[in-house]
Amino acid sequence: MKTEIFNITSLNEKAERELKKSAEVIQAGGLVVFPTETVYGLGADATNAEAAQRIYTAKGRPSDNPLIIHVAQPKDAEKYAYTNEMYYLLAEKFMPGPLTVIMIAKDSVPRTTRGGLDTVAVRCPQNIIARKFIEYCGVPIAAPSANLSGSPSPTNASHVIDDMLGKVNVIINGGDSDFGLESTIVKIDENDTLTLLRPGAITVEDLLTVASEVCVSNAVTHLLKEGETPLSPGMKYRHYAPKSSLVLLDGNLQDAVTYIKKNSSGMKIGVVAYTENISFLKENLLNASVYDFGSQFHEVEQAHRLFSILRESDKDSLDVIYAPLPSKEGIGLALYNRMIRAAAHKIIKL
Ligand code: TXA
Ligand code: MG
Repeated sequence: MKTEIFNITSLNEKAERELKKSAEVIQAGGLVVFPTETVYGLGADATNAEAAQRIYTAKGRPSDNPLIIHVAQPKDAEKYAYTNEMYYLLAEKFMPGPLTVIMIAKDSVPRTTRGGLDTVAVRCPQNIIARKFIEYCGVPIAAPSANLSGSPSPTNASHVIDDMLGKVNVIINGGDSDFGLESTIVKIDENDTLTLLRPGAITVEDLLTVASEVCVSNAVTHLLKEGETPLSPGMKYRHYAPKSSLVLLDGNLQDAVTYIKKNSSGMKIGVVAYTENISFLKENLLNASVYDFGSQFHEVEQAHRLFSILRESDKDSLDVIYAPLPSKEGIGLALYNRMIRAAAHKIIKL
């Protein structure tokens, strides 16, 4: 398939034309990759089962792993899900934005889109290109992250091109994703409490300003054991897997250097380092490839860089990559969740 690439830096006339053309591709059942504030999405008409099926094929994604549907306005969710007061409280505070809400689905969403479940995940993105694009489509857009199943989510167009060129009709290049990790996913429970299924830029503390209780699903901070069924099907798959082995180190910098020296002689190693620690690590680990993770005190910057670093380190074909274990506080929880999964839980307490 020939993939057309549209480079959009601002919403000028040319961009409007390209977005309308992309919308026509969606209406004809095609696939369009578009930017959002979290990561890039691989979009198709959510109400067209055949189009949604093409997403699973392009990604190599198991068909029981449901897709999020993206709407232009929070109130559009009503056509596809049984919304309630809690949905509107969340929408008022966090939408448009990096929050996905799971509710009981209406029949207007084909089972293929929702991976066979009775529920559907709804998100109203904030990115201006995404919003215009969805508006022009006139249908909700089913979109998982636009990576091949098992590789890190794409946070810029070159990541998308690496994974999706020739597999989709259009790629809309809207530059770097603002946040760089996928949206926060919550499920509204019967008594209007929330269950957090995936942490993101909207933190537990943020959610507690709206809901009286937020229960963090076990799968957020642990890997599932054999035979365990997750609340969110995606959690049973190993995500974001770097090609080399990722090891998370829980301890101070000096102990990390001692551990690395002792355990990786003769190996080609990479180290993901807070900016403040780069020169110390370079002086002490002469042969390591060092990746700048951003300031130790700036988790938003770390979130922004994580997936790029994983992709870059893949290209350097290392034997092992070491990274610091993030805290579970605030946005740290989203980093922690993605990193323990990428590391398949290899955490060393120093
Ligand atoms: O930021 C994001 O959410 C990005 C952008 C493109 O919007 N999308 C994204 O989609 O990350 P995806 O498919 O890569 O991850 C969605 C996760 C999957 O783990 C899936 O299993 C879960 O959401 N999910 C979707 N619908 C669900 C449902 N009805 N019940 C439980 N989990 C659901
Ligand atoms: Mg994904």
